[in-house]
Amino acid sequence: SSALPSGYSIRPLERSDFDYGFLDVLRVLTHVGQVTKDEFENRFDEMKAGAGGYHVLVILDGDSKIVGTGALIVERKFIHHLGLVGHIEDIAVAKDQQGKKLGLRIIQALDYVAENVGCYKTILDCSEANEGFYVKCGFKRAGLEMAHYY
Ligand code: ACO
Repeated sequence: SSALPSGYSIRPLERSDFDYGFLDVLRVLTHVGQVTKDEFENRFDEMKAGAGGYHVLVILDGDSKIVGTGALIVERKFIHHLGLVGHIEDIAVAKDQQGKKLGLRIIQALDYVAENVGCYKTILDCSEANEGFYVKCGFKRAGLEMAHYY
């Protein structure tokens, strides 16, 4: 089955989602900071909802509260005959909503977008603790992440 629990829905992030708990869901993933509504809207506008290669999805519960999110960034390349690579980023499910397959549904939806826009692969970075989750989503270990923090 690939259905969400009854009453739940999935859709692209909207400009008004600041008011529906979007940033709070991301706080289960990492530090977010005190982002104002103006700052959120400016960043949302920069992302141009899909056109710029950013596809941010949210899952809402029956009360229209955001309980999960994830992003696909489509990278444009010269190699692979102007290939496109999907990057999955910032997957988060509210603590009290984990274990209901919402994370899996987010990944499936982002994968669907990636395949449909023509990506030849989708990649992501995760911790060892999350490897099992991504294996269940159909991913396999490939390569090694390196980072340079500023
Ligand atoms: N290790 C092994 N298996 C796992 C893990 C894990 N850490 N988490 C979930 N699973 C399994 C589930 O048991 C389930 O298996 P089943 O089909 O056999 O029942 C399957 O994976 C699907 O799990 P979901 O219920 O869809 O997982 P959930 O909705 O809880 O979301 C997530 C998983 C996104 C990792 C969530 O726990 C979360 O938000 N964690 C905190 C933030 C985080 O770490 N995000 C990922 C960062 S990496 C990135 O963003 C690219």
